[in-house]
Amino acid sequence: MNDLDKMEDLRKQVETLQEQMRNQEKLASLGLLSAGISHEVQNPLNFVINFSKMSVKLLDDLMDIIDENSSKFNEDDKEDVEDICADLKENMSKILSHGERAISIIRGILLQSRGKNGEFMPTDISALVHEYVWLAYHSMRANDKSFNIAIHEEYQENLPKFMLIPQDISRAVLNVMNNACYTLKERAGLGDASYSPAVIVKVTFDGNAELTISITDNGMGMTPEIKAKIFENFFTTKPAGQGTGLGMGIIRSLIEGNHNGTMLCDTEPGVGTTITFKIPVKICR
Ligand SMILES: Nc1ncnc2c1ncn2[C@@H]1O[C@H](COP(=O)(O)OP(=O)(O)O)[C@@H](O)[C@H]1O
Ligand SMILES: [Mg+2]
Repeated sequence: MNDLDKMEDLRKQVETLQEQMRNQEKLASLGLLSAGISHEVQNPLNFVINFSKMSVKLLDDLMDIIDENSSKFNEDDKEDVEDICADLKENMSKILSHGERAISIIRGILLQSRGKNGEFMPTDISALVHEYVWLAYHSMRANDKSFNIAIHEEYQENLPKFMLIPQDISRAVLNVMNNACYTLKERAGLGDASYSPAVIVKVTFDGNAELTISITDNGMGMTPEIKAKIFENFFTTKPAGQGTGLGMGIIRSLIEGNHNGTMLCDTEPGVGTTITFKIPVKICR
């Protein structure tokens, strides 16, 4: 190698390093930002939860008072009041349970962004996958009530609990499902009346040591050029504000780094995409 080539080589190395540092800085600031937001949101959410609990109690008191004074109402009015109270109580309990769900998501984010690695613990994988698949679906529906997809779930029966880091798996499922919903919506937007967007979720265990989780969508699929880049940090084909390009890279490091597993992508333009996680697992007895 002559001196000029060596210089060029060095220059490239420095450039790569600089690029890596920029990426790491961006990641660190994202982490700080999300930790900050999560922390701030926790307080108002606690208010929501506590006040809805109090309101449930107040409604119980109100119903008691109405009961005691039932002679003062005519029959129809009494029924109406009781119906309304029952509805209010049901609404309150929904506010409560969704508030609690939001808190638990935020705790998850705080845990992640504090850099604390989650711990391996006995995990009901089917329940976890199911929960996060639907969470992703509902959060998409929250933005667009008119959009529907079919979700087919196939969980192998009678699976034991496995030692996994639940935050990692939930994050992985959430990211993959978000991407799937996005591509289904994109394809539905093309206006083919015969198209029905669908996702197939599968969880299987080989009975020995390998757990497989796969999520298939019949969305746009990817060209080989795009497929080759999806695990790169900050690679996105989405418009600014809609994608960070961090999802696939981060979850691959969770699955391959933390869990010693593999993450595969099988895709065809115009047909769809399957993302598969293969994870070596220990059974809990
Ligand atoms: N299910 C999918 N169908 C089509 N393209 C996908 C799918 N999942 C990921 N991709 C492609 O991979 C890119 C990177 O994904 P990701 O790392 O999750 O970042 P982001 O979702 O923020 O763009 C996406 O922008 C998209 O081009
Ligand atoms: Mg994504």
